[in-house]
Amino acid sequence: MKVLVIGGAGYIGSHVSRELLDKNHDVTVFDNLSSGTRENIFREETFIQGDILDTDALDSVMTQGFDALIHLAAFKAAGESMIKPEKYSVNNISGSINILNSAVKHAIKAIVFSSSAATYGEPQYNPIDENHPQNPINFYGYTKLQIEGLMRWYDQLKGLKYASLRYFNAAGYDVKGRITGLEEKPENLIPVIMEVASGKREKLKIFGDDYDTRDGTGIRDYIHVTDLAVAHVMALEHVLKTRESLTVNLGSDQGISVMEMIDAAKTHSGKEIPVEIVARRPGDPATLYATSKKASELLGWKAKYSDVDSIIKTTWKVYKKHL
Ligand code: UD1
Repeated sequence: MKVLVIGGAGYIGSHVSRELLDKNHDVTVFDNLSSGTRENIFREETFIQGDILDTDALDSVMTQGFDALIHLAAFKAAGESMIKPEKYSVNNISGSINILNSAVKHAIKAIVFSSSAATYGEPQYNPIDENHPQNPINFYGYTKLQIEGLMRWYDQLKGLKYASLRYFNAAGYDVKGRITGLEEKPENLIPVIMEVASGKREKLKIFGDDYDTRDGTGIRDYIHVTDLAVAHVMALEHVLKTRESLTVNLGSDQGISVMEMIDAAKTHSGKEIPVEIVARRPGDPATLYATSKKASELLGWKAKYSDVDSIIKTTWKVYKKHL
């Protein structure tokens, strides 16, 4: 298959590209390198530096002809999206409209889209299934919800089939150690823990230890990025084969607390991880985890590497290299 991976130099995009290459697909990466890095580009793929706001650049790459595209180009910091909604609406929403229009123009048959658990908002129940109401509580989540809506319309009106993958907390690094690009100025829990363990940051701020959870800290569903990558390829194959669009959660179906992550990081790194308990972060629910039953039934997908030890071990291996 000939696949265009938009945002393929980023953290998740590089893992998805790697999985496609492993399955012998022909991969072209289109990325503006705003948060992606050249370190994440593989020898076997074609790389085109370009921006999704540049419709000519998008048209020019799509003229090459692709069976499908995977769209992972987005800003994802929920906190920042509440301060700079313009940045998120232009890049995430307008950029996606450009991609959809170009895909239709060039008769691309299917699109796989990185959606998010952030589209659900405050959980009304756990585990969260795909029928859970979607009421995002941050602008980032709202942009993802809007794009899901656009894809439904383009499917109905233009026959562009899609797979919308609602990721929970993406974590870990390639289980074979082939991806080593680090995220710049991370805000998510695991990269922050790693920066503390590797001495780049002084301490980890724990956003609240008085939640109604087993140890008082927030519980999330961490899904290994290799598992995510495998799901993209399965979803793409499914949509192309059945010609039916799909929307599924991708999570590990288990909740892990902040404290449990820190303990695992201490064990695997052998380093001290100084912490400070600070106030809760606005918009953070106590507990959030998925059921990925639908992905398992529809695609035959199952998370394999999403246990705490595999997530921490594969991540520490990469951070250790950068010490
Ligand atoms: C966040 C976003 C979500 C986005 C996802 C991936 C919010 C509210 N949610 O998920 O929309 O899809 O990232 O980018 O921003 N924590 C600490 N100290 C830290 C960092 C995190 O205690 O320095 C805690 C948080 O309170 C939370 C857990 O760790 O309980 C996970 O946080 P994080 O990694 O930021 O992910 P989410 O907030 O779940």
